[in-house]
Amino acid sequence: MACNSTTDQPQNANITSKSFGTLPSGEEVTQYIMTNNQGMEMSVITYGGIITSLTAPDKAGKYEDIVLGFDNLEGYLQDGVPYFGALIGRYGNRIAKGKFTLDSTEYELAINNIGNHLHGGLKGFDKVNWSAKEVEYADGVALELTYLSADGEEGYPGNLETKVTYQLGNDNTLLIDYMATTDKKTVVNLTQHSYFNLSAMKEDVLNHQLMVNADHFLPVDSTLIPTGELRPVEGTPFNFTEMKKVGADVNQENQQLTYGLGYDHCWVLNEGAGKMDLAAKAYEPNSGRTLEVYTSEPAIQVYTGNFLDGTLTGKGGTVYNKRTGLCLETQHFPDSPNQPEFPSTELNPGEKYESQTKFVFGIRE
Ligand code: GLA
Repeated sequence: MACNSTTDQPQNANITSKSFGTLPSGEEVTQYIMTNNQGMEMSVITYGGIITSLTAPDKAGKYEDIVLGFDNLEGYLQDGVPYFGALIGRYGNRIAKGKFTLDSTEYELAINNIGNHLHGGLKGFDKVNWSAKEVEYADGVALELTYLSADGEEGYPGNLETKVTYQLGNDNTLLIDYMATTDKKTVVNLTQHSYFNLSAMKEDVLNHQLMVNADHFLPVDSTLIPTGELRPVEGTPFNFTEMKKVGADVNQENQQLTYGLGYDHCWVLNEGAGKMDLAAKAYEPNSGRTLEVYTSEPAIQVYTGNFLDGTLTGKGGTVYNKRTGLCLETQHFPDSPNQPEFPSTELNPGEKYESQTKFVFGIRE
């Protein structure tokens, strides 16, 4: 059959790889460039399992990069890079005072965020070099990342065998599949920390519209640890039950917004844990890009890039100012190891930690 190939036409999904530099330890970092048959492209590096770029089409069919990050490894190795695109573990979000007790043994973790433990510690899963290999996926391409976190690493008990698969579908979806097993009782809460900007960085995220499928959120104390209350969103700036501009209420006089410098909170998903349900939807009117998030997790942390302050310059010389990106981090509740009423994050030997999140990229005319 004759085939007039143009650059606009679907191509074969494929993965290529190249060196992304060398860590101070001498370890080589590899970048995998995953392309689906629509031409959507996602780059992932073994360091931190970081998604360094991800393209999605706008309403004119133009694919542009919609995540924050850096052009090279040096960018990611700078001090204070706020988890751009990274895998987060062993525990995404905060554990109060860096302490928890399992079977009457108290474990102590690094304090790396205003008196608390955040995102796995000083060298969390965002800063380790994962092993990667391409795996079979009939409807696109898939990359499997594995990491063995040794017993005691960052203070956590148990050898934790971790596997994360990024599956880029030909239907412009990204499925992230997390799995872990341990040989000693421990706690686990894995997530992905991409900062999305559906305008492709042409403006900040305040004009994005957002829906979060949650009637309750978790209010926090001044150090961003949940108080334990599940507070109704109704009548508060945290009500995103219907599509609403991210910026609509973000500057309201509200103690919770003051604590977070904006939205940096965990919403309790209406559908609960276990099966894949809609967690959130975002829409950026100028580009027409939409993003839907489905997850098996019970909650989602919505973070509006409040701590970005213009000190980091990213890909193509873009300065990352306050609210340049929107994080939609699916997860269990923060501080669950210390809050028995929250869904458990414990993992026992013989059990399997399993979690899935799917990002669906689309357009609305
Ligand atoms: C998470 C936290 C925020 C902030 C960012 C990284 O989303 O909830 O408070 O620490 O990571 O800057």
